[in-house]
Amino acid sequence: MTEKTHIKVLLIGFGNVGQKIADIIVFEKNKFSALNGLKINIVGIITRSKASLVNQKGVNISRALKEIKSTESFLPSNPDFCQMNGCRATEKLDYDVMVELSTLSIEKKGEPSISYVEKSLTRGRHVVTANKGPVAFAFQKLKRLAGENNVQFLCESTVMDGAPVFNLARNNLKGCKITGLSGILNSTTNYILSRMETGESFNEALKTAQEKGIAEAEIKNDIDGWDAAAKIVALSNVLMGADITPPDISREGISKVTPERIKNTLKRNKHLKLICYSKIEDGLVKASVRLEEISQNHPFALVSGMGNILRIETDLMGPIFITQENPTLYDTAYGVLEDLLTIQDHYLPSFRDISKP
Ligand SMILES: NC(=O)c1ccc[n+]([C@@H]2O[C@H](COP(=O)([O-])OP(=O)(O)OC[C@H]3O[C@@H](n4cnc5c(N)ncnc54)[C@H](OP(=O)(O)O)[C@@H]3O)[C@@H](O)[C@H]2O)c1
Repeated sequence: MTEKTHIKVLLIGFGNVGQKIADIIVFEKNKFSALNGLKINIVGIITRSKASLVNQKGVNISRALKEIKSTESFLPSNPDFCQMNGCRATEKLDYDVMVELSTLSIEKKGEPSISYVEKSLTRGRHVVTANKGPVAFAFQKLKRLAGENNVQFLCESTVMDGAPVFNLARNNLKGCKITGLSGILNSTTNYILSRMETGESFNEALKTAQEKGIAEAEIKNDIDGWDAAAKIVALSNVLMGADITPPDISREGISKVTPERIKNTLKRNKHLKLICYSKIEDGLVKASVRLEEISQNHPFALVSGMGNILRIETDLMGPIFITQENPTLYDTAYGVLEDLLTIQDHYLPSFRDISKP
């Protein structure tokens, strides 16, 4: 017997990632048969400036996609149209999981998304975020709140898109203490540095990264190293128990990298890379983001284009690497869908297909 109920999902943000998730669950589900078990009903889509859609029985997703792709806004003629903001939606709507897909704000220290997450967790609702803000600026507080309310706060897509970084540590490194992390975590800067090695200009490479939808909405978040800082801080907070925020760590960006510097580095048989580090020193977690020349035979040197890599050191097991080749929006969308499946299968047992063991 199968219990045919759907998880009620509230989406905050409907940009590149939100629309890709919607595309997959509406138009492409047949291509991805392993997603068949995921039963989602989107009861609200909230944006900042393009209006919102709310329907407790389920928003018409194909209409939402059509409107936003053709007019860049939801239309007043849509029966689900409203002007509800994230604060009110998280407080008032009936949903099981809030999915946070709004933009990272460094200036506002992760707000207003932290407040949205706080409201949802306090109401006993699960939260999935692809937005690094809540994890980089308030993880320990939000984790406590999730525990007190017996709900999950999952964030697989915040670092390395859908590559299983947090899941790997949670499920497959039990009994190991993570003692150090390092890697290339920002696709846009790695792409720009790689393209500059081929003679392309900084601006040309940046434009392509933006066209591919991988660049942050606020471009200085990428090129000034803030996105990389938010990612290594998020990893440090979740995997190493730190309670730090991006402005706490030393950080470099790539805006001052010249074609000459790239050429000279290549002449020395090295590659210029933006590397993130986190390490326990004197009992404290210290993280940083630095531009470094990497020897050609180092694993980090092999990661070009939009690729990412993370080296995880533990006390018990030898270092392991996770690498990701040229991620796309599918990877980010997958990370969110994977978190939703985890919640559906393990934390909302009434939604499970009970014909299966
Ligand atoms: N793109 C990627 O490959 C990728 C990968 C991993 C993680 N992420 C993270 O995932 C999140 C979404 O990325 P994206 O590429 O989809 O961003 P995006 O295209 O810029 O879309 C952001 C969406 O969030 C909405 N929004 C912003 N502030 C809001 C607020 N205060 N309340 C309600 N809605 C708000 C925006 O509405 P308006 O358009 O009206 O402003 C827009 O719909 C970001 O945090 C990003 O860092 C992205």
